[in-house]
Amino acid sequence: MKKLIITIDGPAASGKEKIAKYISKKWKLNHLDSGILYRRLALIFLIENIDFKSIHKIKNKLKEIRQISFRNSKKIRTQVISKLASKIAVHNCVRNFVNKFQYNFVNKNKKMRGFVIDGRDIGSVVFKKADLKLYIDVNPEIRAKRRYKQLIDSGEKSIYPKILRDIKLRDKQDKLRKHSPLIIPKGSHIINNNGRFKDTVNQINILLDKI
Ligand code: DC
Repeated sequence: MKKLIITIDGPAASGKEKIAKYISKKWKLNHLDSGILYRRLALIFLIENIDFKSIHKIKNKLKEIRQISFRNSKKIRTQVISKLASKIAVHNCVRNFVNKFQYNFVNKNKKMRGFVIDGRDIGSVVFKKADLKLYIDVNPEIRAKRRYKQLIDSGEKSIYPKILRDIKLRDKQDKLRKHSPLIIPKGSHIINNNGRFKDTVNQINILLDKI
């Protein structure tokens, strides 16, 4: 039976994860957060002090890595890792490396009914032929406010203007890079997530009912 694939793309802190979890629960689909893979690599590069500006050193390190954990954790959710993940994601060799794990994840979990995968290039590059493509739109100020609250609630120190600056910087890096930049994928539906989650879910349910 053909596997159902739903892709969710959007900028940093746009609520992709919450939306992906909602869909995954409602439709019993396996959820893959591709950002975790970039964050895990960023953590490895940070711990091992790999010069992320040297393509040669990055390639050598990637040759050594056999597996990346798909597990979320507090240590990959820091501002430092967010920024570093966005920086290493500009390199094509890093993107190809991460994509291999994504294809493998989908191919090996054969028993699953389907997948919901979120990131920056999922509907535009990784799974271009997905059954449903969503692009999440939220203005930067609202994203920064939500991220600020999240960090404060989890006990991290946080300053709103700095969060807003970092979000805008990450948007710029993710949208202007040469390889697989963040774009609104062809054939995707734009979901407005500026308001209440209930309103977002209503927009999504209309689309899910049509699959
Ligand atoms: O979704 P996130 O904030 O966890 O992603 C962290 C960074 O990883 C993001 O700023 C850019 C990169 N990324 C990417 O380039 N492509 C993806 N599909 C997912 C994440």
